Amino acid sequence: MTSYKDLGLVNTRNLFAKAIKGGYAIPAFNFNNMEQLQAIIMACVETKSPVILQVSKGARDYANINLLRNMARGATEYAHELGCDIPIVLHLDHGDSFETCKECIDNGFSSVMIDGSHLPYDENVAVTRKVVEYAHQFDVTVEGELGVLAGIEDDVAAEKSNYTRPEEVIDFVSKTGVDSLAISIGTSHGACKFTPAQCTRNADGVLIPPPLRFDILAEIEKKLPGFPIVLHGSSSVPVEYVKMINEHGGALKDNVGIPEDQLRRAAKSAVCKINIDSDGRLAMTGTIRKVLDEKPAEFDPRKYLGPAREALKKMYMHKTVDVLGSAGHALD
Ligand code: G3H
Ligand code: 13P
Ligand code: ZN
Repeated sequence: MTSYKDLGLVNTRNLFAKAIKGGYAIPAFNFNNMEQLQAIIMACVETKSPVILQVSKGARDYANINLLRNMARGATEYAHELGCDIPIVLHLDHGDSFETCKECIDNGFSSVMIDGSHLPYDENVAVTRKVVEYAHQFDVTVEGELGVLAGIEDDVAAEKSNYTRPEEVIDFVSKTGVDSLAISIGTSHGACKFTPAQCTRNADGVLIPPPLRFDILAEIEKKLPGFPIVLHGSSSVPVEYVKMINEHGGALKDNVGIPEDQLRRAAKSAVCKINIDSDGRLAMTGTIRKVLDEKPAEFDPRKYLGPAREALKKMYMHKTVDVLGSAGHALD
């Protein structure tokens, strides 16, 4: 058993309480490799933002749980070396069972998500409660989910979103004891959130997708005042990186993500954790494609991973400063 406390990590409890009070959201960035982790830590130290490092089942299969745990420990030392001990959470993203959550808790994770959102309500309650009972013995915080997002997460794909039903949230939170609740209000996973046909154009010709259901969020906040809410599927799918990928041999469709002003608005509410993975994938892939296209004789991975890391850092800094508002709150 490794405790996250020995790794220099923190759970989400205090971070969420401060984020709700302060009107900002903590970034939850997924990582699978060293360059992504370096970029996240550099960006969050430079902007003095707390951060949640997210590990999906896919990341665990790709990178190995022991390596990931030690990378997170290394991240705390790296942040210290860079000059700011920002709070760092190691979080399991979309835990699919009690066993997966237990394994992560036993391996030094400070926070886990148990995603029973696709299960019948009573089964979601039962498995979430079981995870909470185990996690809380070790002061590990737990995120549950009600409502289903459209898109693909690990092996589960949903065609249509199923919004969270506000009438269920009080029952769910009180029966399970979760520390935070992920909800479905119109975000979705992956880089293909909305097609241009689903959008309208504003006066500048920019494609605007259907707005998030802030009315549902408001109802949930009314039922659970001050309770931490989480938004998954919150990448904005930057046009510049989709274009970069396609200009250098890629074949992505022109899809539209969640507008930044809507995320900013959500961050000012009880939404205190915002999940971003796809935007990092786009920035990294676009930059690597560009370097390799422009320098076909290059074969040193550092020559394309280095620029990709720089692009990632720039994007993460933009998120903490301009979108989530977490910049400057590391030492609150
Ligand atoms: O919600 C899903 C995350 O973007 C993780 O994706 O399972 O491909 O690592 P992944
Ligand atoms: P995106 O695919 O929009 O980046 O969402 C990531 C996510 O929700 C991870 O849990
Ligand atoms: Zn997610």
